[in-house]
Amino acid sequence: MSLSFADLTHNPFAEAWFADSHGRMRLIRPLRPRDGERFSRFLSSLSSDTRRFFAPHGLEWQDGQQLVAELDPSQVLRLLLLDKSGPGEEVLGYLILQMGLAPHEVARFAHYGIEYDPALCASLAPVVAEGWQSQGLGAPLLKQGLHLCRELGRQAVVLMGGVQDANRRAVHFYLRHGFHRLDSFEWPHGVLNDDMIRWL
Ligand SMILES: CC(C)(COP(=O)(O)OP(=O)(O)OC[C@H]1O[C@@H](n2cnc3c(N)ncnc32)[C@H](O)[C@@H]1OP(=O)(O)O)[C@@H](O)C(=O)NCCC(=O)NCCS
Repeated sequence: MSLSFADLTHNPFAEAWFADSHGRMRLIRPLRPRDGERFSRFLSSLSSDTRRFFAPHGLEWQDGQQLVAELDPSQVLRLLLLDKSGPGEEVLGYLILQMGLAPHEVARFAHYGIEYDPALCASLAPVVAEGWQSQGLGAPLLKQGLHLCRELGRQAVVLMGGVQDANRRAVHFYLRHGFHRLDSFEWPHGVLNDDMIRWL
């Protein structure tokens, strides 16, 4: 099947249902224009530790409103993981899938000696809600992102800005899901980050 990112906002193909370890229904689907309120609530409730690991992505109330107003799935596909066991559809997770690599990342990856086409890659960044981390929600969110990238003809996925080496849970999470560590770089001063790639 061949899809374009622009098709996906309301496409049932981009959705994935699953039951969590307690049998509660969860839905993963693209961010939509009507999600402003719940998405902003999710972003602004993240703790300082989570923000530190997820930086530099915008995580304030107004960022949620702005991202919903400026949706452009042909450039960036934003997936939400939603609680469907109650009426509120609370956001429990969020995955950014950006087409290609930023120019500074292409420059950094040039040192790794790997054969790949940056234009055929996607960059991703996941975050799970406070109080829901380490409960098996990140795994289906990541798998759905990888599945969509594969269907969209992507060759590989890299981590947007790498992963902080001190973020041991996230490092474990990526290695467990088939990512390979390439090398480390320091940014900002004193913070070591690992670049990783997942071939599709
Ligand atoms: C990273 C993140 C998205 C993963 O989602 P999650 O729902 O917590 O992940 P899961 O529960 O599916 O899996 C977590 C794994 O880490 C393991 N883990 C938990 N704490 C750990 C730790 N301190 N060190 C190493 N591994 C750890 C769990 O055992 C599990 O591994 P397993 O599947 O082999 O049992 C989530 O923890 C998160 O949002 N963290 C804060 C933001 C962040 O770091 N984003 C990534 C930026 S690069």
